[in-house]
Amino acid sequence: MSKKKTPEELRSHRWYGVNDLRSFGHRSRTSQMGYSREEYAGKPVIAILNTWSDINPCHTHFKQRVEEVKRGIWQAGGFPVELPVQTLSEPFQKPTTMLYRNFLAMEVEETLRSYPADGVVLMGGCDKTTPAMLMGAISMDLPAIFLPAGPMLRGNWNGATLGSGSDTWKYWADLRAGKITEDDWKGVEGGIARSPGHCMTMGTASTMTSAAEALGFTLPGFASIPAPDSRHAQMSARTGMRIVEMVWQDLKPSDIVTAGAVDNAVTTCLALSGSTNAIVHMIALARRAGIELTLDRYDAISRRIPVLANIRPTGQYLMEDFYYAGGLQAMLKELGDLIDGTQLTVNGKTLGENIADARIFNDDVIRRRDNPLIPDTGLAVLRGNLAPDGAVIKPGAAEAQLHVHTGPAVVFKDYNDMAARIDSDDLAVDANSVIVLQHAGPIGAPGMPEWGQLPIPQKLLMQGVRDMVRISDARMSGTSYGACVLHVAPESFIGGPLALVQDGDLIELNVPERKLNVLISDEELARRKAAWVAPEPRFTRGYGAMHQVHVMQADKGCDFDFMQRDGAGAGASTGGEPEIH
Ligand code: FES
Repeated sequence: MSKKKTPEELRSHRWYGVNDLRSFGHRSRTSQMGYSREEYAGKPVIAILNTWSDINPCHTHFKQRVEEVKRGIWQAGGFPVELPVQTLSEPFQKPTTMLYRNFLAMEVEETLRSYPADGVVLMGGCDKTTPAMLMGAISMDLPAIFLPAGPMLRGNWNGATLGSGSDTWKYWADLRAGKITEDDWKGVEGGIARSPGHCMTMGTASTMTSAAEALGFTLPGFASIPAPDSRHAQMSARTGMRIVEMVWQDLKPSDIVTAGAVDNAVTTCLALSGSTNAIVHMIALARRAGIELTLDRYDAISRRIPVLANIRPTGQYLMEDFYYAGGLQAMLKELGDLIDGTQLTVNGKTLGENIADARIFNDDVIRRRDNPLIPDTGLAVLRGNLAPDGAVIKPGAAEAQLHVHTGPAVVFKDYNDMAARIDSDDLAVDANSVIVLQHAGPIGAPGMPEWGQLPIPQKLLMQGVRDMVRISDARMSGTSYGACVLHVAPESFIGGPLALVQDGDLIELNVPERKLNVLISDEELARRKAAWVAPEPRFTRGYGAMHQVHVMQADKGCDFDFMQRDGAGAGASTGGEPEIH
């Protein structure tokens, strides 16, 4: 290992190594915690930012994993310091963890800035924790390595395999249509989440932890290992060992997050048929590194990337099967020239070197390029008079006959309006209708919740309708499916065209041509816009008030406007803030 730093050059030296009044305080207080000088003097201080909590089921095992990380750090000659940060528990936090993603990103950055950290292990996995931690770490630009929580085991109920989210929606629809009993439903409840770990479908968690690995932020192969597997524990210890070396080598996010690495992560999301949420997160974290990732770039990459991962909700299997089939490394190897193998990763090797020996063990789970699950267009960016700044749809998750569709709008002014009327017998709706939800975006909802898989009216469910065109400025869980147009920008709450749609307006969706239009004249749209009245702000104080003023729209990644660094280029992204010591 070639060292670029001496102990005196460590950031923590300013806390521990100098001989002044303040460092006396740091050392005496460290002594108070039971450490003698020999245990930490001259060693890299490694912050372990842990998103464990009693209310995050996906991170239940982090209490144990953090001990394994510490073991690795000690063995490599570092000094581990565990610091708790926001847990962002997807199932419990309301209205949505997305409202707080930027909060955690700021907490990560400021925690690192204000404490004597030389390097950091980021422990996350449940949905927004991954992008939030990467965003904060990119902005701070200290040596950083990501520890992915790993997917939970397959769900099981009466011999049927259950997938997180996807099977919740499926069996909920079956219950509402009278196809299963309440007892069946309770059985699903008991069997769908049966181990620690994040959702094991290709939801946001699996998508973003895989993206983190492709970006270069995890040890090779880590993202695919199921949470309870002993190899997950071993990788945790190795992550601890590696971060100490990274500090000595001064290997930082700015060395890793390049435009090519971002393209690799986007390619990975698409080949996995990953969550649409990843678009927002990838744009946000790229912008933290000064890399302009646009929706159009996303769409252009999508047109040439086949879907190789046969994982629910687009495909058939789950993350556990994906791991046994060779995992992410095998899929990246199969992508071949579609991946830029020259990009550097946290282990000091290139992505290409890391995947050189990867093999596929089941080519139904990880498809070969000559037999993809979907040849291209895992994701489409739509534009038109309804979404001047873009909207997205995942065509593979929608019924094919809806890819080109024109139908009359049935408009709900907000989530409560939809909840109150969607199942009403009086609702004028049929299978040809286009369901529209307003005020579900970054500011209007607030936080752009995962409401985008709008429910199909019960009376249509009873007729056997399972998919319809649905449009909103919300996001959708990556475990969801359906012809759901999402992330409409600008959002309706700030007067985007979605706010101007009325019942009965014809809406045109054309995925092959990437179009989304409301078929009314420009004059009529202008007349409605002039008559539009801005709603009252959602918040008058606190974090919410700051969020509504500064959050950017979906096409810009929903980061705060004051956190990005436009066009600065990787390497110039951080650090740059003054450190007050
Ligand atoms: Fe944590 Fe799905 S609830 S990843």
